Amino acid sequence: MNKVKIIGTGSYLPENIVKNDDLAKIVDTDDEWIRTRTGIRERRISEGENTSEIATKAAIRAIKAANISVDEIDFIIVATSTPDNFLPSTACMIQDNIKALNATCFDISAACSGFIYALDIGTQFIRSGRADTILIIGAEILSKILDWKDRSTCILFGDGAAAAVLKKSETEGIFATYTGSDGRLGDALECSAIPVNNPYVKRKAEKAKAVVKMDGKEIFRFAVKIMEKSIKKLLKDSGYSADDIKGIIPHQANFRIIEAASKRLNINLDKFYVNLDKYGNTSAASIGIALDEAVRNDIFKRGDKVLLVGFGGGLTYGGALIEV
Ligand code: ACO
Repeated sequence: MNKVKIIGTGSYLPENIVKNDDLAKIVDTDDEWIRTRTGIRERRISEGENTSEIATKAAIRAIKAANISVDEIDFIIVATSTPDNFLPSTACMIQDNIKALNATCFDISAACSGFIYALDIGTQFIRSGRADTILIIGAEILSKILDWKDRSTCILFGDGAAAAVLKKSETEGIFATYTGSDGRLGDALECSAIPVNNPYVKRKAEKAKAVVKMDGKEIFRFAVKIMEKSIKKLLKDSGYSADDIKGIIPHQANFRIIEAASKRLNINLDKFYVNLDKYGNTSAASIGIALDEAVRNDIFKRGDKVLLVGFGGGLTYGGALIEV
């Protein structure tokens, strides 16, 4: 089986910074409530850029960091819950933007676990010999599916995109991957699409508003439990101990979730890379943005082992133990 490495990362955040005090002008909330319950201070909110545009910018940065030609890219896999269109896929739109014309392109839907799922799928394609070079992207304009009147959700999320280039390698760079889903808990975090509406429909469904609805407490409980399970599984499968790991990049949803997981695992909180204070929860992009930021700021250096771990709507979960 082929070995796989991440050879370049990139990310892009919209320029518009929305602070907690700015949200207090829109909904009945305040900076203190948001900071103490979530850890979030500000987030980036698109002033019009759509998912394919921010994803393209992240992709160009990752391709540059990887120092490859776009012609080498065999697959483009995009994780998003907020595509520009039902069709074409976001991945095909990015292909056209960057002219990676040798690539097979498709989107996947795994909510906040999307970056991990894309990493796992890309890794398996390279391991099996089906591809040499794969561009994975997690990108969301979540602001377009938020209910800006619901203070319990609109304060949590932000817009952003992240990309990584995976390549067949002489040495191993992905030591373990793990994914799972539990559809029974799907209604804890949902956003409906359009109902069936054709001349043959017997009973017209009410058109639901396409906005995020969430049972915050249910997600909180699930997230803490599944982060513990995923991290233990990745360490066991890879044969490494927590001491061998330079850092952990968790999905950036809520600081209190990360704190609780750190306690349950008895792993020092300092080991967890956190940037949700600046960007909020960017769903499929969050782990990729944090990885790119940490690598570019030399927090993780070449050869360091880093654990990625996520959870999200579906419900979905998973992680990876990688070398940066
Ligand atoms: N500002 C002020 N008050 C608020 C706000 C707000 N933005 N939002 C809710 N409240 C109020 C509620 O109305 C409630 O008031 P009441 O007691 O008078 O009814 C009170 O604050 C407490 O609300 P809770 O929902 O109990 O607050 P909780 O401490 O559970 O925190 C939160 C809510 C932050 C959403 C938490 O449950 C959480 O973080 N859950 C995890 C969910 C998460 O992170 N989701 C992100 C997406 S999941 C993913 O990434 C897949």
